Amino acid sequence: MENKVVAPAENGLMKKIVSHAKEYGFVFPSSEIYDGLQAVYDYGQMGVELKNNIKTVWYKAMTQLNDNIVGIDAAIFMHPLTWKASGHIDGFSDPMIDNKDSKKRYRADVLVEERAAQMEAAGKKDEADALVKKLARLLEADDLKGVQDLITNEKITCPVSGTANWTEVRQFNLMFSTQVGSVAEDASTIYLRPETAQGIFVNFLNVQKTGRMKIPFGIAQIGKAFRNEIVARQFTFRMREFEQMEMQFFIRPGTEMEWYKKWKESRLNWHKAIGLPAEKLKFHDHEKLAHYANAAVDIEFEFPFGFKEMEGIHSRTDFDLGNHQELSKKKQQYFDNDIDEATGKPYGNYVPYVVETSVGADRCFLAVLCNAYTEEVTGEGENQKERVYLKLHPTLAPIKAAILPITKKDGLPEKAMEIYNELKYDIKVTYEDKDSIGKRYTRNDLIGTPFCIAVDHQTLEDNTVTIRHRDSMEQERVPISELRLKIRKETSWRTILEKV
Ligand code: GAP
Repeated sequence: MENKVVAPAENGLMKKIVSHAKEYGFVFPSSEIYDGLQAVYDYGQMGVELKNNIKTVWYKAMTQLNDNIVGIDAAIFMHPLTWKASGHIDGFSDPMIDNKDSKKRYRADVLVEERAAQMEAAGKKDEADALVKKLARLLEADDLKGVQDLITNEKITCPVSGTANWTEVRQFNLMFSTQVGSVAEDASTIYLRPETAQGIFVNFLNVQKTGRMKIPFGIAQIGKAFRNEIVARQFTFRMREFEQMEMQFFIRPGTEMEWYKKWKESRLNWHKAIGLPAEKLKFHDHEKLAHYANAAVDIEFEFPFGFKEMEGIHSRTDFDLGNHQELSKKKQQYFDNDIDEATGKPYGNYVPYVVETSVGADRCFLAVLCNAYTEEVTGEGENQKERVYLKLHPTLAPIKAAILPITKKDGLPEKAMEIYNELKYDIKVTYEDKDSIGKRYTRNDLIGTPFCIAVDHQTLEDNTVTIRHRDSMEQERVPISELRLKIRKETSWRTILEKV
């Protein structure tokens, strides 16, 4: 039977996904018993499995599919000069403004953008476009007074107090700082890293030398990053504590565009391979380049709130290694003994260029969750029912199979437990015997379990079980002896990796 997929109203969809994520143990607000902490979230028992699977398949795609990419796990705290060299101390900020009456802080550019969106909604598209362009010009020129005048001229008021009693616009650094050292006089300021990339740059020579790596080669890392985002919203899309999956690819200067193109394509393929549909993914070239890049593109995903950045691919030149070399006074060079055809001599010493791929694990998690959330109508007439399930790629699903005895008697729980104990060493499986089998199917649909294994009286006679498939709800009878191979095949890393 063909089931009809219902497209829930876009604006209500995000709310449904957020409450689904909480109700079924994927994502909880942080320290919720104290009313939570804005833009900080905890992953629950299902969320951690899904997120770990996303991270694993990224790490494997990088380090297993490419024998010239290796991993590291650098510390969150780094020497403060790191952030001077990277440009984050001087340039990692957003323009912000406070309302003196409500004491609320806003991103000045977002206030103007919201005014432009209101104009557009009121049919004044040309005026809205002109306002956005003017804002872009002012930001480009670092003209904060100009941004302030724009807010005054547009008579933009604080949504809380309703007044236009604003402070001046100031740059607000997004890095969190803390003190290290036991005595106040000796303490020095250090930062929680705002990107994981710098842990890779400062270890470039350690890895190159100890791993005898030859250019081109890459270093991959997954880890926490922290940003004091002023506008923190849209669930795990913009968080103050989040995880990045970054890879720096070290190359010979002059070859960066070739590698940039290659990584763009490879990363888009990875997103498709984990089950995100091609029509919900697109590239967005940066017009205004970050201080470190000579080319940059985002891979955007169509979230329920629109197409938004999920991953950045940046050609970072020798900006980072060059600055680290200057500040640390330690050479960050590589000796390339390949022959340059133009001169007939080895390329010799140089500071490598870098192409970086940087994807947020939490944004990717959110994309996967939004894409998987499915509402469907089954049956006809009076038998019509609505069902909600997570259509996750089987390899990413938190639980691969649920082992379900159809009743709690006649030796069925014991038989089901035997199957569970046999499978659990290779596959993430659960055992459940509470409630009717229908309710247990529904519970597993809601968390995206691709296979439910029903153990019934026939199982005791012929050692076969029923597999119920999540998406089609179709059932098939298979021998217990084939279960392990069958589930492993459909949930193996290979199902994703061979498509990257
Ligand atoms: N090393 C380069 C870098 O950090 P970025 O574009 O600032 O570049 C890369 O960040 C990715 O990190 C983004 O595409 C996004 O997926 C993720 N990310 C950045 N800020 C985030 C935040 N506040 N919350 C969640 N994810 C974030």
